[in-house]
Amino acid sequence: MSGAVEIAPGLSCYPGYLDRAGQEALRDEIGAVLAAAPPFVPRMPRTGRPFSVRMSNCGELGWVSDEQGYRYQPTHPETGAPWPPMPSRLQAVWAALAPDAPPPEACLINLYGATARMALHQDRDEEDFSAPIVSLSLGDAALFRVGGATRGGPTRSFRLESGDAVTLGGPARLAFHGVDRIYPGSSTLLAEGGRINLTMRRVTKG
Ligand code: SIN
Ligand code: FE2
Repeated sequence: MSGAVEIAPGLSCYPGYLDRAGQEALRDEIGAVLAAAPPFVPRMPRTGRPFSVRMSNCGELGWVSDEQGYRYQPTHPETGAPWPPMPSRLQAVWAALAPDAPPPEACLINLYGATARMALHQDRDEEDFSAPIVSLSLGDAALFRVGGATRGGPTRSFRLESGDAVTLGGPARLAFHGVDRIYPGSSTLLAEGGRINLTMRRVTKG
């Protein structure tokens, strides 16, 4: 690991946080999670328009979106099964990067194909914003965009590579963020290509 880069107050990037062996181990653990909790296509509230990313979750709670809105729930929206437990490797990353926060309850798994994107949004479906969001990226690189806490303000973008970690906490906890594009073929980690992003969250008050 080459150390943290504070990009803005509360927004830190840890390039190469996971080495290749750590990325491979996490990839395999997430593969097992996805076998038990198959990826689903989330839909926009009201319109039902499908997202371009597919999603799953692990941990006690999972984030879902459909015509009824955004929410956390303890079960998979299609299978009805509880989410698989969060791998201890992920819990260890949280403990290292969010040492003052209570344990994470949800890990959202976003699966990006070559043309998937994520529009600018805030992560604000949690009951409490005192814990940071902790993000890990695997596979193809992405152009990540981040702004301030109000929509329409200035933004900046930077490239996230496989193994990078990002934390959004403190004054950046409610920063708008999204993914402009994926760089297909930029990583050999995932045989099928694409990108996996994992975001751990504390959902309830600690
Ligand atoms: C997200 O905000 O849910 C995902 C961010 C990312 O893919 O890096
Ligand atoms: Fe997000």
